[in-house]
Amino acid sequence: MSDTSLANAGKPLARKVLTGKAIASKTLTGKAIASKTLTGKAFAKINISLDIVSKMADGYHNLRMVMQTVSLYDEVTIECKPGEGIRVDAGLPYLPGDERNIAAKAALAFFKHTRISGYSTDIKIKKAIPVCAGLGGGSTDGACVLRMLDNMFETGLGRIELERLGSTIGSDVPFCIDGGTKLAEGRGEILTDLPHIPQCYIVIIKPPFSCSTPELFKRVRCDKIRSRPDTGGLVKALGEGDLRGVAQRMYNVFEDVLPRGERDIAAIKYALIDSGALGAVMTGSGPAVFGLFDNKTDAESAFLKLKVNYNECFLAETTGRIL
Ligand code: C5P
Repeated sequence: MSDTSLANAGKPLARKVLTGKAIASKTLTGKAIASKTLTGKAFAKINISLDIVSKMADGYHNLRMVMQTVSLYDEVTIECKPGEGIRVDAGLPYLPGDERNIAAKAALAFFKHTRISGYSTDIKIKKAIPVCAGLGGGSTDGACVLRMLDNMFETGLGRIELERLGSTIGSDVPFCIDGGTKLAEGRGEILTDLPHIPQCYIVIIKPPFSCSTPELFKRVRCDKIRSRPDTGGLVKALGEGDLRGVAQRMYNVFEDVLPRGERDIAAIKYALIDSGALGAVMTGSGPAVFGLFDNKTDAESAFLKLKVNYNECFLAETTGRIL
Protein backbone atom coordinates (compact mmCIF):
# COMPACT_ATOMS: atom_id res chain seq x y z
CA MET A 1 0.00 0.00 0.00
CA SER A 2 1.44 3.38 -0.96
CA ASP A 3 1.60 6.29 1.44
CA THR A 4 -0.90 8.15 -0.74
CA SER A 5 -3.49 5.42 -0.51
CA LEU A 6 -2.88 5.22 3.23
CA ALA A 7 -3.49 8.94 3.57
CA ASN A 8 -6.85 8.55 1.89
CA ALA A 9 -7.84 5.47 3.79
CA GLY A 10 -9.84 7.18 6.57
CA LYS A 11 -13.46 6.19 6.35
CA PRO A 12 -16.27 8.75 6.44
CA LEU A 13 -17.72 9.07 9.90
CA ALA A 14 -21.17 7.57 10.19
CA ARG A 15 -23.98 9.51 11.81
CA LYS A 16 -26.57 7.53 13.70
CA VAL A 17 -29.72 8.11 15.64
CA LEU A 18 -29.32 7.67 19.37
CA THR A 19 -31.42 4.85 20.69
CA GLY A 20 -29.63 4.25 23.97
CA LYS A 21 -31.65 3.51 27.04
CA ALA A 22 -30.75 5.14 30.31
CA ILE A 23 -29.96 2.77 33.17
CA ALA A 24 -33.25 3.96 34.67
CA SER A 25 -35.72 6.64 33.73
CA LYS A 26 -34.55 9.82 35.33
CA THR A 27 -37.08 12.57 35.26
CA LEU A 28 -40.35 10.93 34.32
CA THR A 29 -40.97 9.49 37.76
CA GLY A 30 -38.59 11.67 39.75
CA LYS A 31 -37.88 8.59 41.86
CA ALA A 32 -34.55 7.37 43.11
CA ILE A 33 -33.04 5.17 40.41
CA ALA A 34 -30.62 2.30 40.37
CA SER A 35 -26.91 2.86 40.51
CA LYS A 36 -24.46 0.98 38.32
CA THR A 37 -20.71 0.41 38.56
CA LEU A 38 -18.35 -0.87 35.86
CA THR A 39 -14.60 -1.47 35.89
CA GLY A 40 -12.43 -1.65 32.79
CA LYS A 41 -8.86 -1.61 31.53
CA ALA A 42 -7.37 1.42 29.80
CA PHE A 43 -4.34 0.21 27.81
CA ALA A 44 -1.29 2.36 27.09
CA LYS A 45 -0.24 3.08 23.50
CA ILE A 46 3.17 3.29 21.90
CA ASN A 47 4.16 4.97 18.63
CA ILE A 48 6.00 2.51 16.44
CA SER A 49 6.50 5.57 14.23
CA LEU A 50 5.59 9.25 14.31
CA ASP A 51 5.80 11.57 11.33
CA ILE A 52 4.62 15.18 11.11
CA VAL A 53 3.47 15.76 7.56
CA SER A 54 2.36 19.40 7.63
CA LYS A 55 0.98 22.20 9.74
CA MET A 56 -2.72 22.86 9.35
CA ALA A 57 -4.41 26.27 9.22
CA ASP A 58 -5.78 25.84 12.78
CA GLY A 59 -2.25 25.38 14.17
CA TYR A 60 -2.62 21.64 14.64
CA HIS A 61 -0.36 19.24 12.74
CA ASN A 62 -1.17 16.65 10.15
CA LEU A 63 0.39 13.44 11.48
CA ARG A 64 1.14 9.96 10.19
CA MET A 65 1.74 7.43 12.95
CA VAL A 66 1.79 3.67 13.35
CA MET A 67 0.33 3.09 16.78
CA GLN A 68 0.06 0.02 18.98
CA THR A 69 -1.63 -0.82 22.27
CA VAL A 70 0.40 -2.59 24.96
CA SER A 71 -0.55 -4.57 28.07
CA LEU A 72 0.36 -1.82 30.57
CA TYR A 73 -2.99 -0.46 31.79
CA ASP A 74 -4.83 1.84 34.19
CA GLU A 75 -7.87 0.38 35.94
CA VAL A 76 -10.91 2.63 35.53
CA THR A 77 -14.06 2.26 37.66
CA ILE A 78 -17.19 4.29 36.92
CA GLU A 79 -20.16 4.58 39.26
CA CYS A 80 -23.29 6.31 37.98
CA LYS A 81 -26.26 7.00 40.25
CA PRO A 82 -29.05 9.55 40.43
CA GLY A 83 -27.70 13.01 41.06
CA GLU A 84 -25.35 15.33 39.30
CA GLY A 85 -21.70 16.21 38.84
CA ILE A 86 -18.66 14.37 37.54
CA ARG A 87 -15.73 13.63 39.86
CA VAL A 88 -12.45 11.92 39.08
CA ASP A 89 -10.08 10.42 41.64
CA ALA A 90 -6.85 9.30 39.97
CA GLY A 91 -5.07 8.88 43.30
CA LEU A 92 -2.34 11.40 42.38
CA PRO A 93 -2.34 14.88 43.92
CA TYR A 94 -1.23 16.59 40.70
CA LEU A 95 -4.02 15.15 38.54
CA PRO A 96 -7.19 17.30 38.56
CA GLY A 97 -10.39 15.72 39.89
CA ASP A 98 -12.68 18.06 37.98
CA GLU A 99 -13.56 18.78 34.38
CA ARG A 100 -9.95 19.54 33.49
CA ASN A 101 -9.31 15.78 33.69
CA ILE A 102 -9.69 14.06 30.32
CA ALA A 103 -11.74 11.25 31.95
CA ALA A 104 -14.26 13.85 33.16
CA LYS A 105 -14.19 15.55 29.73
CA ALA A 106 -15.06 12.18 28.18
CA ALA A 107 -18.03 11.66 30.53
CA LEU A 108 -19.27 15.19 29.84
CA ALA A 109 -18.95 14.67 26.08
CA PHE A 110 -20.85 11.37 26.36
CA PHE A 111 -23.76 12.84 28.35
CA LYS A 112 -23.98 15.89 26.08
CA HIS A 113 -23.93 13.79 22.93
CA THR A 114 -26.53 11.27 24.15
CA ARG A 115 -28.60 13.88 26.01
CA ILE A 116 -28.71 11.57 29.03
CA SER A 117 -28.89 13.59 32.24
CA GLY A 118 -29.59 13.31 35.94
CA TYR A 119 -26.63 11.14 36.88
CA SER A 120 -23.83 11.68 39.31
CA THR A 121 -20.65 10.11 37.92
CA ASP A 122 -17.69 9.02 40.03
CA ILE A 123 -14.61 7.87 38.16
CA LYS A 124 -11.77 6.16 40.04
CA ILE A 125 -8.54 5.51 38.20
CA LYS A 126 -5.76 3.25 39.51
CA LYS A 127 -2.85 4.68 37.54
CA ALA A 128 -0.14 2.34 36.33
CA ILE A 129 0.71 4.20 33.10
CA PRO A 130 3.21 7.00 33.79
CA VAL A 131 1.70 10.46 33.40
CA CYS A 132 2.92 12.89 30.68
CA ALA A 133 5.09 10.20 29.13
CA GLY A 134 3.89 9.84 25.52
CA LEU A 135 2.09 6.60 26.43
CA GLY A 136 -1.42 8.03 26.02
CA GLY A 137 -2.27 7.62 29.73
CA GLY A 138 -4.89 10.40 29.84
CA SER A 139 -6.24 9.61 26.38
CA THR A 140 -6.75 5.93 27.13
CA ASP A 141 -8.55 6.73 30.40
CA GLY A 142 -10.87 9.03 28.41
CA ALA A 143 -11.43 6.37 25.75
CA CYS A 144 -12.16 3.76 28.44
CA VAL A 145 -14.75 6.10 30.03
CA LEU A 146 -16.48 6.49 26.63
CA ARG A 147 -16.52 2.70 26.03
CA MET A 148 -17.82 1.97 29.50
CA LEU A 149 -20.57 4.63 29.48
CA ASP A 150 -21.70 3.37 26.05
CA ASN A 151 -21.89 -0.09 27.59
CA MET A 152 -23.51 1.02 30.87
CA PHE A 153 -26.26 3.07 29.22
CA GLU A 154 -26.64 0.66 26.27
CA THR A 155 -26.37 3.55 23.85
CA GLY A 156 -24.86 1.35 21.12
CA LEU A 157 -22.67 4.14 19.77
CA GLY A 158 -20.12 1.70 18.39
CA ARG A 159 -16.56 2.20 17.31
CA ILE A 160 -16.90 4.94 14.67
CA GLU A 161 -19.10 7.18 16.74
CA LEU A 162 -17.02 6.66 19.89
CA GLU A 163 -13.90 7.56 17.90
CA ARG A 164 -15.58 10.68 16.58
CA LEU A 165 -16.65 11.66 20.10
CA GLY A 166 -13.13 10.90 21.33
CA SER A 167 -11.64 13.23 18.72
CA THR A 168 -13.43 16.14 20.41
CA ILE A 169 -11.50 15.58 23.65
CA GLY A 170 -7.95 14.70 22.54
CA SER A 171 -5.92 13.71 19.50
CA ASP A 172 -4.93 10.24 20.78
CA VAL A 173 -8.37 9.35 22.17
CA PRO A 174 -9.79 7.98 18.87
CA PHE A 175 -6.96 5.43 18.56
CA CYS A 176 -7.42 4.36 22.20
CA ILE A 177 -11.11 3.48 21.64
CA ASP A 178 -10.25 0.28 19.76
CA GLY A 179 -6.43 0.06 19.90
CA GLY A 180 -4.55 -2.84 18.32
CA THR A 181 -2.21 -1.92 15.46
CA LYS A 182 -3.38 1.10 13.45
CA LEU A 183 -2.24 3.85 11.16
CA ALA A 184 -3.38 7.21 12.56
CA GLU A 185 -3.46 10.27 10.32
CA GLY A 186 -4.81 13.81 10.42
CA ARG A 187 -4.71 14.92 14.04
CA GLY A 188 -4.88 11.23 14.92
CA GLU A 189 -8.57 10.72 14.15
CA ILE A 190 -8.24 9.13 10.68
CA LEU A 191 -7.65 5.49 11.56
CA THR A 192 -6.84 2.51 9.39
CA ASP A 193 -6.49 -1.01 10.81
CA LEU A 194 -3.14 -2.60 10.07
CA PRO A 195 -2.06 -6.25 10.32
CA HIS A 196 -1.36 -6.98 13.98
CA ILE A 197 2.30 -6.69 14.92
CA PRO A 198 3.94 -10.15 15.33
CA GLN A 199 4.13 -11.40 18.95
CA CYS A 200 6.72 -9.30 20.75
CA TYR A 201 7.68 -7.84 24.13
CA ILE A 202 8.23 -4.26 25.08
CA VAL A 203 10.44 -2.69 27.74
CA ILE A 204 9.38 0.88 28.49
CA ILE A 205 11.52 3.42 30.33
CA LYS A 206 10.22 6.79 31.47
CA PRO A 207 13.08 9.13 32.35
CA PRO A 208 12.52 11.53 35.26
CA PHE A 209 11.51 14.64 33.28
CA SER A 210 8.61 15.54 31.07
CA CYS A 211 8.28 17.09 27.62
CA SER A 212 5.55 19.62 26.80
CA THR A 213 3.64 18.41 23.73
CA PRO A 214 2.71 21.93 22.47
CA GLU A 215 6.36 23.05 23.02
CA LEU A 216 7.73 20.15 20.99
CA PHE A 217 5.25 20.81 18.17
CA LYS A 218 6.41 24.45 18.16
CA ARG A 219 10.02 23.33 17.68
CA VAL A 220 9.15 21.35 14.54
CA ARG A 221 9.52 23.05 11.15
CA CYS A 222 7.76 20.69 8.76
CA ASP A 223 9.90 21.85 5.80
CA LYS A 224 13.12 21.29 7.79
CA ILE A 225 12.56 17.71 8.99
CA ARG A 226 15.77 15.92 7.97
CA SER A 227 14.57 12.34 8.08
CA ARG A 228 11.20 10.76 8.35
CA PRO A 229 9.92 7.27 9.12
CA ASP A 230 9.44 4.95 6.17
CA THR A 231 5.73 4.49 6.93
CA GLY A 232 5.05 2.58 3.71
CA GLY A 233 7.95 0.17 4.46
CA LEU A 234 6.71 -0.22 8.03
CA VAL A 235 3.20 -1.12 6.88
CA LYS A 236 4.69 -3.60 4.38
CA ALA A 237 6.82 -5.20 7.12
CA LEU A 238 3.70 -5.54 9.31
CA GLY A 239 1.88 -7.18 6.40
CA GLU A 240 4.74 -9.66 6.00
CA GLY A 241 4.92 -10.39 9.74
CA ASP A 242 8.53 -9.18 9.62
CA LEU A 243 9.28 -8.01 13.17
CA ARG A 244 12.91 -7.13 12.40
CA GLY A 245 11.72 -5.03 9.45
CA VAL A 246 9.33 -3.25 11.80
CA ALA A 247 12.04 -2.67 14.43
CA GLN A 248 14.48 -1.30 11.83
CA ARG A 249 11.93 1.29 10.71
CA MET A 250 10.81 2.60 14.11
CA TYR A 251 11.31 6.35 14.01
CA ASN A 252 9.93 9.44 15.74
CA VAL A 253 10.60 12.89 14.23
CA PHE A 254 10.23 14.53 17.67
CA GLU A 255 13.56 13.01 18.69
CA ASP A 256 15.31 15.49 16.38
CA VAL A 257 13.88 18.55 18.13
CA LEU A 258 14.32 17.60 21.78
CA PRO A 259 15.68 20.39 23.99
CA ARG A 260 19.30 19.85 25.04
CA GLY A 261 18.43 18.78 28.61
CA GLU A 262 16.42 15.91 27.24
CA ARG A 263 19.18 14.32 25.22
CA ASP A 264 19.48 11.35 27.55
CA ILE A 265 16.72 9.82 25.44
CA ALA A 266 19.62 8.66 23.23
CA ALA A 267 21.34 7.05 26.23
CA ILE A 268 18.18 5.09 27.07
CA LYS A 269 17.83 3.92 23.48
CA TYR A 270 21.44 2.77 23.54
CA ALA A 271 20.88 0.92 26.85
CA LEU A 272 17.84 -0.88 25.40
CA ILE A 273 19.65 -1.90 22.22
CA ASP A 274 22.67 -2.95 24.27
CA SER A 275 20.30 -5.16 26.31
CA GLY A 276 19.10 -7.02 23.23
CA ALA A 277 16.24 -4.89 21.83
CA LEU A 278 15.71 -5.20 18.06
CA GLY A 279 15.01 -1.46 18.00
CA ALA A 280 14.25 1.40 20.39
CA VAL A 281 12.43 4.70 19.93
CA MET A 282 10.75 7.49 21.88
CA THR A 283 6.95 7.23 21.97
CA GLY A 284 4.67 10.19 21.14
CA SER A 285 6.01 13.47 22.47
CA GLY A 286 8.00 11.49 25.04
CA PRO A 287 9.88 11.26 27.15
CA ALA A 288 9.17 7.53 27.50
CA VAL A 289 11.30 5.30 25.29
CA PHE A 290 10.57 1.67 24.49
CA GLY A 291 12.60 -1.23 23.16
CA LEU A 292 11.08 -4.05 21.12
CA PHE A 293 12.12 -7.67 21.79
CA ASP A 294 11.22 -10.81 19.86
CA ASN A 295 11.34 -13.08 22.89
CA LYS A 296 10.23 -12.92 26.50
CA THR A 297 13.50 -14.15 28.02
CA ASP A 298 15.55 -11.31 26.51
CA ALA A 299 12.88 -8.76 27.40
CA GLU A 300 12.74 -9.97 31.01
CA SER A 301 16.49 -9.88 31.48
CA ALA A 302 16.69 -6.40 29.91
CA PHE A 303 13.89 -5.25 32.21
CA LEU A 304 15.60 -6.64 35.33
CA LYS A 305 18.92 -5.05 34.34
CA LEU A 306 17.51 -1.64 33.37
CA LYS A 307 15.15 -1.17 36.28
CA VAL A 308 18.19 -0.91 38.55
CA ASN A 309 19.04 2.44 36.91
CA TYR A 310 15.60 3.61 35.85
CA ASN A 311 12.88 3.93 38.49
CA GLU A 312 10.06 3.88 36.00
CA CYS A 313 10.73 0.79 33.95
CA PHE A 314 7.96 -1.52 32.68
CA LEU A 315 7.72 -4.88 30.92
CA ALA A 316 4.73 -5.30 28.60
CA GLU A 317 3.57 -7.08 25.50
CA THR A 318 1.53 -5.89 22.54
CA THR A 319 -2.23 -6.36 22.65
CA GLY A 320 -4.94 -6.72 20.00
CA ARG A 321 -8.04 -4.67 19.23
CA ILE A 322 -10.47 -3.94 22.06
CA LEU A 323 -13.85 -3.71 20.31
O1 C5P B 1 -5.22 17.08 21.15
P1 C5P B 1 -4.26 17.11 22.29
O2 C5P B 1 -4.82 17.81 23.49
O3 C5P B 1 -3.71 15.77 22.61
O4 C5P B 1 -3.02 17.99 21.78
C1 C5P B 1 -2.13 18.63 22.66
C2 C5P B 1 -1.40 19.72 21.91
O5 C5P B 1 -0.53 19.16 20.94
C3 C5P B 1 -2.29 20.66 21.12
O6 C5P B 1 -2.70 21.75 21.90
C4 C5P B 1 -1.39 21.11 19.99
O7 C5P B 1 -0.55 22.15 20.43
C5 C5P B 1 -0.51 19.91 19.75
N1 C5P B 1 -0.97 19.06 18.64
C6 C5P B 1 -0.73 19.46 17.32
N2 C5P B 1 -1.14 18.64 16.29
C7 C5P B 1 -1.73 17.46 16.53
C8 C5P B 1 -1.96 17.03 17.86
C9 C5P B 1 -1.57 17.86 18.88
O8 C5P B 1 -0.18 20.54 17.07
N3 C5P B 1 -2.09 16.68 15.52
